[in-house]
Amino acid sequence: MSCGCAPLNRATLSIGICDGPLFPSHFCSAIRHGVSGIGNIVILTGAGISAESGLATFRGPDGLWEGHRVEDVCTPEALASDPVMVHRFYDARRAALADVEPNAAHAALAQLDAQWPGELLIVTQNVDDLHERAGAKRLLHMHGELRSALCAACGARRPWETPMLPANSAQGGFAAPQCSACDAHALRPDIVFFGEMPYQMERIEQAISRADLFVSIGTSGAVYPAAGFVRTARYRGARTLELNLDPSEGSIFFDETRLGPASELVPSWVEELLA
Ligand code: OAD
Repeated sequence: MSCGCAPLNRATLSIGICDGPLFPSHFCSAIRHGVSGIGNIVILTGAGISAESGLATFRGPDGLWEGHRVEDVCTPEALASDPVMVHRFYDARRAALADVEPNAAHAALAQLDAQWPGELLIVTQNVDDLHERAGAKRLLHMHGELRSALCAACGARRPWETPMLPANSAQGGFAAPQCSACDAHALRPDIVFFGEMPYQMERIEQAISRADLFVSIGTSGAVYPAAGFVRTARYRGARTLELNLDPSEGSIFFDETRLGPASELVPSWVEELLA
């Protein structure tokens, strides 16, 4: 029987804010399992899980950077027209990683990853490295990583720890760092900009299609395609749970919403699941 809702649509996969109606007029609400029947889990995380480690969220009260919204800085057009501004933004974020540590929510997900016998995939929108520093292994960064550089000329990716902006950039004459694979001065932050395709969408779609439980943690549900995963998960028959400080934009699509700080909600949910 068709319920009229669609799985992930290739045409809508580049990231962006949805300007049109957020929700389809109807959707399938079939729920395959109760908690005891869960085998495969997909967990989507956003900036809220790292907030208590000291990293600002994007849309919270401290979400503006020097008066810019992230949607204005995080675009190919901004990189082309004002590379110094874009590099300063990401250099500051990369440097901030040295001052923060994973919190109890990252640790609990790493514990779940280590002990869960079924399939599990943590899909993070975060470009920090706090999940892996907590020990998570079954993890992918759909929006890229601060500690990685991408060559805009040849597509090579490589670890990157230092600022991309040379110290003398204020005097003008900015040249992007050189790629060791193709020699072009074309390295940029390995971040998926608005309008670009997130990483590993096929792997995410496959994992969601097999999931019995889809859990969203610390994300506002404002940025697609990640914001649409909950509807795909429901369509595929998964149970859906949201753990967030405030209800997300897609809150009505979750079977259950628990509100509070991630450092409290996530460890208690993991404890429940592993009991
Ligand atoms: P947002 O800043 O949009 O949303 C953060 C969410 O975390 C909000 O719903 C908050 O209520 C919640 N939150 C804040 N503190 C929390 C806490 N202590 N515990 C639990 N939840 C908390 O961040 P994202 O949804 O991650 O993309 O943003 C999605 C994407 O937008 C980002 O990946 C980024 C940005 O543009 C790129 O940079 C490519």
